[in-house]
Amino acid sequence: SQFQKGVKHLWESGIKSVPMKYVLPVLERPVAMNGESYATKLNLKLPVIDFAELQGSNRPQVLKSLANACENYGFFQLVNHGISNDAISNVLDVAGRFFELPFEEREKYMSVDMRSPVRYGTSFNQTKDGVYCWRDFLKLVCNPDIVPHWPSSPVDFRNMAAIYAKETKFLFLMVAEAILESLGLTNTENKTKEEEEDDILKELQDGSQLMVVNCYPPCPEPDLTLGMPPHSDYGFLTLLLQDEVEGLQIQFQEKWVTIEPIPNSFVINVGDHLEIFSNGRYKSVIHRVLVNSMKSRISVASLHSLPFSSMVRPSTKLISDANPRRYMDTDFPAFIKYIESSDSTKKKFLESRR
Ligand code: SIN
Ligand code: FE2
Repeated sequence: SQFQKGVKHLWESGIKSVPMKYVLPVLERPVAMNGESYATKLNLKLPVIDFAELQGSNRPQVLKSLANACENYGFFQLVNHGISNDAISNVLDVAGRFFELPFEEREKYMSVDMRSPVRYGTSFNQTKDGVYCWRDFLKLVCNPDIVPHWPSSPVDFRNMAAIYAKETKFLFLMVAEAILESLGLTNTENKTKEEEEDDILKELQDGSQLMVVNCYPPCPEPDLTLGMPPHSDYGFLTLLLQDEVEGLQIQFQEKWVTIEPIPNSFVINVGDHLEIFSNGRYKSVIHRVLVNSMKSRISVASLHSLPFSSMVRPSTKLISDANPRRYMDTDFPAFIKYIESSDSTKKKFLESRR
């Protein structure tokens, strides 16, 4: 249909109103939840975690802030993370240029198969969504054997994106290690090979990394639609890079609040795997994306999960008589079954795992 070409194409065609295909039911529109208009929308400053400080003598204090962020927000912003400003601006720049390519070039990567390791598309799930959202995207599985299949244009795309993916994976593992420690799971004094945290770190190292490049062009009627519908992230942690245009909103104390971008920082959030692993102590929080009528927005999300073959279960060390097990063991097929059987954009996967 005319909508398969995506929203960048729609915007460039000069439309002055949002086609019906994108108009959300009244109660799902961005302003309905708190009854407030754009002018009065709430902004939230997330807890800021200083990665350099985490690596120094202040680690115990920073671990406490990290625990507080994961318990009460499910989100934090990471600064001084060691990934160079160049690597960051390069990936945002080349991602922007990918979406500037002629449609015929982008179309080569279009696929209706949700499991395709390289997939260009629009909306959330363009073959299933009743109402479309205002987003074009490129999803890339980051295994070394898939990288050669990533887009070959722009000419520097593959190289820039691969450098970024590699550095992000490394950073993810460092942050994951700190998160395990913040849960009280690491005893550096007498660590044995059998220690559970070693196993989960090893699994995360071998786990999957998915990079999602999102493009949200300006929208003539941003109050009627969303860039991304409410959802939680399936994996262990997501590291999100966004340009200077705001759009990400999270659920905080039952309100939608907008996250203010901090240049060269990562927004990091707890995913469903970590909520399960922590037996509910850390929260995988629902979030969504607003669009606006003025500026195009680019984001690059790096989703890190356990391997697809792994079983996700609460850590035995976080289960006790006082704190009983809260989730069933969960595997990837259970998740696939869930997203294929119900409207995954309205409920939380974890609600089906209690
Ligand atoms: C996401 O939820 O993965 C995307 C968030 C964003 O574009 O800010
Ligand atoms: Fe997300």
